[in-house]
Amino acid sequence: MRLFFALWPDEAVRAQLAHWARELHAVCGGRPVRAGNLHLTVAFLGNVEDARIADVERAAAGVAPRVASLVLDQPGYWKHNRIAWAGASSVPAEIETCVAELRSALARSRINFDSKGFVSHVTLLRDAREPRAMPALDPVEWRLDGFALVQSVTLPQGSRYEIRKSWKG
Ligand code: 2AM
Repeated sequence: MRLFFALWPDEAVRAQLAHWARELHAVCGGRPVRAGNLHLTVAFLGNVEDARIADVERAAAGVAPRVASLVLDQPGYWKHNRIAWAGASSVPAEIETCVAELRSALARSRINFDSKGFVSHVTLLRDAREPRAMPALDPVEWRLDGFALVQSVTLPQGSRYEIRKSWKG
């Protein structure tokens, strides 16, 4: 089962992110992430054997979910993977701590995850071109109250991400 931990937006934040995606699409082209899939990855596990899923959930259950406000105020573009994204110029300490605790809990339980450092971003477009200039976009204020374990389901029309379990503060 292909799994990752993520911060999952509510309806209002999702709508604002979808608006950002449309504005960025006008300058970058590319493939918009479908609105229902928009999220911020905190740890990417990849394929996990069924027998290990209870361990993954147990590790997560030991981490205190935090309430915090994350302001996405920075559109960005990465040349190396042709992704356009929404980011935050400042990430609240509560989020950094929660992500660090979750990653330590996974490591202690010997659950593999992509060990690249946490770079908070919401991918909005894939296969995008580098824009000449980023559009001005209204900041998105996101009230966070926890994190979710998400399953990536592969369908003929692409991946769909489904929340398997969430932990809220
Ligand atoms: P991305 O949006 O920057 O590509 C599901 O694939 C989610 O996990 C995506 O948000 C993706 O980030 C993230 N992710 C992190 N590490 C990954 C990896 N090694 N392979 C695939 N996806 C990864």
